[in-house]
Amino acid sequence: MIADEPTATTFFSKLFGLTEKVAIVTGAGSGIGHGIARYLAAAGARVVIAEISPEAAARVTDELNAARPESAFAIRTDVSDEASVAATMRATLERFGRIDILVNDAGIFPTTPIAEMTLQDWERVQGVNLRGTFLCLRAAALQMRKQGSGGRIVNISSIDSLHPSMVGLAHYDASKGGVNMLTRSAALEFGPDKITVNTVLPGMIATEGVAAMSKGAPTTMAQSTATFGARTVLGRVGTPEDIAACVLFLAGDAASYITGQTLVCDGGYLIG
Ligand SMILES: NC(=O)c1ccc[n+]([C@@H]2O[C@H](COP(=O)([O-])OP(=O)(O)OC[C@H]3O[C@@H](n4cnc5c(N)ncnc54)[C@H](O)[C@@H]3O)[C@@H](O)[C@H]2O)c1
Repeated sequence: MIADEPTATTFFSKLFGLTEKVAIVTGAGSGIGHGIARYLAAAGARVVIAEISPEAAARVTDELNAARPESAFAIRTDVSDEASVAATMRATLERFGRIDILVNDAGIFPTTPIAEMTLQDWERVQGVNLRGTFLCLRAAALQMRKQGSGGRIVNISSIDSLHPSMVGLAHYDASKGGVNMLTRSAALEFGPDKITVNTVLPGMIATEGVAAMSKGAPTTMAQSTATFGARTVLGRVGTPEDIAACVLFLAGDAASYITGQTLVCDGGYLIG
């Protein structure tokens, strides 16, 4: 049956296609979020680029709309700000009429040892990574509940939520641990509404954000990716597309019986 071309196409588009779906991707202006937005749009979704940088959002929106007209729409969003998140939900409904998928990708990862960490450093990271995930999740889940046809929420955490990779990321690691538990609690609460909530835990992924983090560091981006890549079982660092493929799976019909789970995508780093 799957060898037959038209039937195979129907079969795969039922499992992985997102035609008619409306997806919000936070932090979609660069790196992993950009990859996720591209994959969701390629699968047929209309994608809201919910990004704090208007320039980055415009670049990605133009790229997606050039590939498929009207497939993307940018809304300047600061996920850590409740009013901004509410405005993004409203603008999405005005533009596309519904919300089917939310991907909480926006995140920051400044490095500071605990000994030098100020309360502001701590609050800023929790504000974007954990409060931001909560604010977007709550707003989108309530809208999905109102629509009554289920939904998909995918949070982007990190393997650092399971095992710290270096000194300086305590605030980040704690925020991502929080995202993992928020995922499970939300899955429990919104399961009766047929809303699934899952988390992807990336290993090291070569992105603009990682390149910026490495600027001025004693090791260059190339050196640290080579070192990290060599420590994975698969011998390389990840790409935004590696994570986007996980999100595409969790956002589609193929994953309709999966909720409250964490999917590690790290090239085998943690088992190595
Ligand atoms: N790159 C990695 O190795 C890696 C590993 C594990 C987890 N992650 C997680 O993946 C996500 C994306 O990381 P990345 O490497 O692509 O980073 P990135 O810096 O390349 O992209 C993050 C995007 O989020 C946006 N953003 C930042 N603060 C925001 C806010 N308050 N509101 C809305 N948008 C905001 C940025 O402008 C940027 O476009 C983060 O949650 C990060 O913690 C990344």
